[in-house]
Amino acid sequence: NVFSKMVKPKVYVTRKMNEEAMAILEKDCDVISWSGTDPVPRAELLKNIEQVDGLYCVLTDKIDKNVLDVAKNLKVISTMSVGYDHLDINEIKKRGIKVGYTPETLTDATAELTVGLLLATCRRLIEANAAAKGGKWQTWSPFWMCGTSLKNATVGFFGFGRIGQEIARRLKTFKTKEILYTSRNAKPEAAEIGALKVDFENLLAKSDFLIVCCSFNESTRGKFNLDAFKKMKKNAVFINSSRGGVVNQDDLVIALKDKLIWGAGLDVTTPEPLPIDHALFKFENCVILPHIGSAAIDCRMEMAALTAENIVTALRGEPMPSELKF
Ligand code: DGY
Repeated sequence: NVFSKMVKPKVYVTRKMNEEAMAILEKDCDVISWSGTDPVPRAELLKNIEQVDGLYCVLTDKIDKNVLDVAKNLKVISTMSVGYDHLDINEIKKRGIKVGYTPETLTDATAELTVGLLLATCRRLIEANAAAKGGKWQTWSPFWMCGTSLKNATVGFFGFGRIGQEIARRLKTFKTKEILYTSRNAKPEAAEIGALKVDFENLLAKSDFLIVCCSFNESTRGKFNLDAFKKMKKNAVFINSSRGGVVNQDDLVIALKDKLIWGAGLDVTTPEPLPIDHALFKFENCVILPHIGSAAIDCRMEMAALTAENIVTALRGEPMPSELKF
């Protein structure tokens, strides 16, 4: 418990955060913050973390061995995200540093966005809007701008944690035929949702909509490659709101070019931001969003506050409201 020494613990915040989150930190800690809404430059991060007890970071901050070697006093890292692939967990573990993250807070917002992205992709909303604005809307026409529908569709999930399950609950109201999922372990919630566990091959072969919502790690890296796209249905709509790294993007370009699948909706890419001249931007049937899954204001406020609470409680030696157990 660093508070008992009567010296306030030091915390570094890697982004300009809202007042409410800062107030939680500032009550108990000496806080230094990067003042930008853009990512903190690496040199600036390294310069500031030498003496800190706590680090408040976001998913663009790569917290690797180099950072950890400099941050000799670090006791807790709290990331404003559910994903933690930007943290070198092995190195963190070796040093006995605690980690806080923000699952639960963003489940509903991310599920909502994923449903929106799916509908935008399968019903061609972005393309249709551009056509309307661009003077291509000449008359109502029986088969113009037709997309594919969720009704009677088989929806497959790669990864079926909190977010996947919330997406499934929402999609069921669209009268889907069946919900399938592939994950390492069977999910107890699947029975209530009416979702069936299948292996990866079956997921690929049967899904009309295939939604990626797994966590990103070495076992999921590049999982959606040419081989996988070839095994998918030609009418399949591929949706990813997890991490870009789960997809081999060059292979996705081939899949779209060769019409191996019907379309793709991506809230995440590699890199982020995706360069505007990237091949994926050239496909009308590929909807790309700038990683906005959790970007609902109430959700982000909750994430920001929880990130602060995780730091303060860890430094007090109290149980963290949301500690990552590894
Ligand atoms: C996360 O939390 O990991 C999302 O990608 C952003 O909210």
